[in-house]
Amino acid sequence: MKRTKIKDALNATDPMPEICIKGWVRSKRDNKGFSFVALNDGSCLGTIQAIIDHTPEIETELAKAGTGASVAITGELVESPGKGQKWEVRGTTFEVIGEADQETFPLQKKRHSDEFLRSIAHLRPRTNKYSAMFRMRSELAQAVHKFFSEKDFFYIHTPIITGSDCEGAGEMFRVTSLEAGSKEPATEDFFGKPSALTVSGQLSVEMFALSLGDCYTFGPTFRAENSNTPRHVAEFWMIEPEMAFADLSDDMDLGEEMIKYLITHMLDNSAEDVELFAKWVDKSLMPTLENILKEPFKRLPYTEAINLLKKTKKKFEYPVEWGMDLQTEHERFLCEEKFKKPVYVYDYPKTIKPFYMRMNDDDNTVAAMDCLVPRIGELIGGSQREERMDVLTARMAEMGLSEEEYWWYLDSRKYGTAPHAGFGMGFERMLMLVTGVANIRDVMPFPRTPKSLEF
Ligand code: 4AD
Ligand code: MG
Repeated sequence: MKRTKIKDALNATDPMPEICIKGWVRSKRDNKGFSFVALNDGSCLGTIQAIIDHTPEIETELAKAGTGASVAITGELVESPGKGQKWEVRGTTFEVIGEADQETFPLQKKRHSDEFLRSIAHLRPRTNKYSAMFRMRSELAQAVHKFFSEKDFFYIHTPIITGSDCEGAGEMFRVTSLEAGSKEPATEDFFGKPSALTVSGQLSVEMFALSLGDCYTFGPTFRAENSNTPRHVAEFWMIEPEMAFADLSDDMDLGEEMIKYLITHMLDNSAEDVELFAKWVDKSLMPTLENILKEPFKRLPYTEAINLLKKTKKKFEYPVEWGMDLQTEHERFLCEEKFKKPVYVYDYPKTIKPFYMRMNDDDNTVAAMDCLVPRIGELIGGSQREERMDVLTARMAEMGLSEEEYWWYLDSRKYGTAPHAGFGMGFERMLMLVTGVANIRDVMPFPRTPKSLEF
């Protein structure tokens, strides 16, 4: 018989004379003559209860059905007389597919710390909390594509292996081929050329924006920064839209629209899972998701942000100075304490930003923006791009970048250049915002940090 997903069984409108469900045992209670088995198959948060009458054969199977075992039950879907559930299964057959050794199975029914669950990342999606997390991650990724598709943006697949360092920060992982049959690196990198894993698809997607108009890329990116913070990982997914004939203010509009769209989508489509997380969120630091939707984001020039941070009585670990990069403590102060909502800081000093950002008339700041959100700090980083060939090459010379290496990038300015703008949103950080989860390791299936390469 074809299996019915537990989500569909729980949402059934009518009883079903025949049903087959398969899943993992969450709990089992034996009584005289029958047993209750609660089953979850990952399709939703809920479990379905099955009542199994004992026969000698079934009792042998039930004895093997400890927490975590996978089982198949056939029977009838009937209205449940019990409280808290509409439907239950009256089982007529009960079969254990895969046993779980009760001596060693680490997910017995009790609360486990997030830290412990990280050490068994391969099993944590078996818990309520993490199955909800990874359903939401899937839903959010789909919502990203839906958002752009509705706005007629083209999805561009940008390369993972690259020869250029987009951010110019030198935080790249080299790609090396191995000698056949050995773990020793070959003498060459990418067939003789140095190559690395991409830190951002921006430079590539810019070429497409200057051809197709509105584009985006959404893929894995890599940073070889040896930092152990709750917001940084070595491998993360980034969403990078790029728009032709657009300026910094269009860029901020798009970011705000996108954040609000994604939140709305999750409230509408993942309500049960979102609610599960909402109860763990520290509400003193975090406006509710509904509140983020209500008001326009604050937009604040960098220079004003610095003045404001200097004036406040709050003591920061890093002293505030014009020209510095904002630290997480400053970013969080602005959006958690000062404005209590997402804040765009824009027009940053050129000295702390990459070569491709458009120079402002003051010759001192660039048309850059970061979107800061409560609990997390920087969620989005973007800019209007320098479309003027002479200004761009002068800036590259200043920063010691070779024109030869970027010849293809410069071609886009040489032939039909146009104002354009875009940004990068950290997908994991967006998921942290939606769930309120404080550690980025807990929104990724198998996080990659300096200390974790397992799984
Ligand atoms: O600010 P970033 O470095 O910007 C860029 O890479 C631009 N080229 C993007 C663009 O304009 N197309 O990174 C963008 C976002 C950050 O705001 C942050 O949300 C996320 O990517 N991010 C990280 N997320 C997790 N771990 C890390 N190590 C991250 N570094 C950046
Ligand atoms: Mg940034």
